[in-house]
Amino acid sequence: MNRKHGWSYGLAIGVLLLSLQAGGGAIPAVRATEETERYLGPCALAASADARTLYVACADARQVAWVALPGGEVLRRVAVPGEPSGVALSPDGTKLIVTCAAPNSVIVVLDAASGQILATIPAGHTAVGATLSPDGTRLYVCNRFENNVSVIDLLEGKQLARVAAVREPVAAAVTGDGRTVVVANHLPNTRTDAAFSGDSAATVSIFDAQTFATTVVDLPDGSNGLRGICTSPDGTHAFATHLLSNFRMVPFRVDTGWINVNVVSIIDVPQRKLLATIGLDEFYRGASTPWDVACTADGKWVCVSLSGTHELNVIDRADLLGKDALRTMSPMMGVWPIYPSLGASLWRRIQLPGNGPRGLAIAGAKVYVAEYFSDTIAVVDLAATGDEGRVGSIALGPSVKLTPRRRGEMLFHDATLCYQHWQSCASCHPDARVDGLNWDLMNDGVGNPKNTKSMILSHVTPPSMAEGVRMTAEEAVRSGFTHILFSVPPEQDAADIDTYLKSLPVVPSPYLVDGRLSPSAERGRQLFHSQQVGCHICHPAPLYTDLKPHNVGTRSPGEFTERFDTPTLIEVWRTAPYLHDGRYTTIRELLVDGRHGLSSGRLEALSEQEIQDLVEFVLSL
Ligand code: HEC
Ligand code: HEC
Repeated sequence: MNRKHGWSYGLAIGVLLLSLQAGGGAIPAVRATEETERYLGPCALAASADARTLYVACADARQVAWVALPGGEVLRRVAVPGEPSGVALSPDGTKLIVTCAAPNSVIVVLDAASGQILATIPAGHTAVGATLSPDGTRLYVCNRFENNVSVIDLLEGKQLARVAAVREPVAAAVTGDGRTVVVANHLPNTRTDAAFSGDSAATVSIFDAQTFATTVVDLPDGSNGLRGICTSPDGTHAFATHLLSNFRMVPFRVDTGWINVNVVSIIDVPQRKLLATIGLDEFYRGASTPWDVACTADGKWVCVSLSGTHELNVIDRADLLGKDALRTMSPMMGVWPIYPSLGASLWRRIQLPGNGPRGLAIAGAKVYVAEYFSDTIAVVDLAATGDEGRVGSIALGPSVKLTPRRRGEMLFHDATLCYQHWQSCASCHPDARVDGLNWDLMNDGVGNPKNTKSMILSHVTPPSMAEGVRMTAEEAVRSGFTHILFSVPPEQDAADIDTYLKSLPVVPSPYLVDGRLSPSAERGRQLFHSQQVGCHICHPAPLYTDLKPHNVGTRSPGEFTERFDTPTLIEVWRTAPYLHDGRYTTIRELLVDGRHGLSSGRLEALSEQEIQDLVEFVLSL
């Protein structure tokens, strides 16, 4: 099983690339905190069929650990060239495939017996979710920030195709007959403003392994934050974990799942259609931020790691597909009680010993869960009767000592800080970025929803929020707790979250070519800074914001103001939709339809090529 994990480039690299490509000097005041400890960061794992060995991708340590089962001794640690984000074991158990995420990702093929690197295969930007065909000849890898899936012939060691996904594919699974591939798209890819009448939801892409013919299955309105996907052993169903956001309601309460619920969507694979979306939460207790999902080999159990509440959810597949689930666990957000407590009896929720469960692997009746923040593996024995002996723990290294930065990262993802554990900051800000949705937070009045903001550079680009209603990001962090998680954090927790957010490395844009501006983006850079176009007046390098509010004619119907804070343009390639209300899905629409920054006459003065160049530059930041 292979799952993506939040990015962790060294900030120095990010800043270096940024200053190189943008030609604008280094970004001030943001420096990664001195990290005195080293973390392993287990995020994905694979178990051998004989349940003797566990292979663990340790993202932070950039290594793969070989763990002896059942004892838990770490036999070997193999360094890999990049952040390991997914692992898959060949059906004969001889080869281990590891995706190493980077702007130019590498897939390494390792000898499972010796740990030797046998081959390396290039992949796209931020490769995640290595998935093998049942015969082991085909490999599917999601290129998260290129929105496509690499199809690789492992016998030849070469890429056969890149199949388009929708937005940020993060996990894939193949049916048992090898004929169909299902792909989880992390984020919605739509407008979200009031004038837009469609659904805003993430999707699952399904493609034919031979023809690559693709169907996109829409999930219910508000679906986002997909992390995991698996197929049932008989290939009839796919299960995708995600959040279902009640973003059309005012978030004045969090109980009973008013803001976010946590769900699994069931897809009929042969029919390529959504069957149902079933809640994992209980009436008074959220099951926050489901991450990975896996089926037992007999198809009886569906297991889901709950990354925000540090639990494993074990669901009887027959129950999941049964009438009771549909009747009692179908989220009806914004209407009223979501789940009568009756539904709770359908799911077994098992508290795990570590913190931040992500990737799952199952061998026989044992479920192994990578616990990201505690550098441990939880072992859950599904066959154990009663609680005795059901849950064990394997330490991958010395016990973790948290630096303030790491502690902040952990708390940011921890839903147990929220009233009734419904959500964490990461529920709306996955990887401390965006969910692609609008929320009508009450800090600036009601009836004027705002698109979620990324926290990249927030602490050095005050004020915060589209209307600048929070003077600083520090203030926004604390009000996030009080008004969205409905809890008051100890000051130290908030301070550590600040430290984490300040350390966020800028991810180099997928539009860069070997870390540099393309020729088109370079021409765009000159236009951006020219007298003729003048974007730099409000978006000056290196932060690409003058930190001031402006009236740029973007007021939307429900707004009380026409002045909005100028946002940074760094990483704007990953934060669509654009403007405070998310009315444009592309930079091109913003410029051409919105005439943003190009008052009358100036747009017409630009050639088609010049517009393209400008777009290319903005997307390269
Ligand atoms: C229900 C979804 C949701 C949750 C949960 C949430 N946020 Fe936000 N956050 C938003 C939205 C929407 C905005 C943008 C609001 C605006 O522009 O007025 C935002 C903006 C921010 C900003 C300002 C960024 C900037 O540069 O202007 C910070 C900082 C922030 N959130 C921190 C947090 C923290 C810390 C938590 C957890 C305690 C949290 N958020 C939880 C939705 C959420
Ligand atoms: C007069 C100041 C001003 C000028 C000039 C200007 N901008 Fe902006 N820009 C803003 C403001 C203010 C916003 C936020 C508006 C809103 O949210 O409604 C913004 C938003 C944006 C966004 C959307 C960012 C996001 O995260 O949603 C992009 C992209 C952008 N500007 C690019 C440009 C480009 C390219 C130019 C030059 C053609 C330009 N801007 C010129 C002030 C300006």
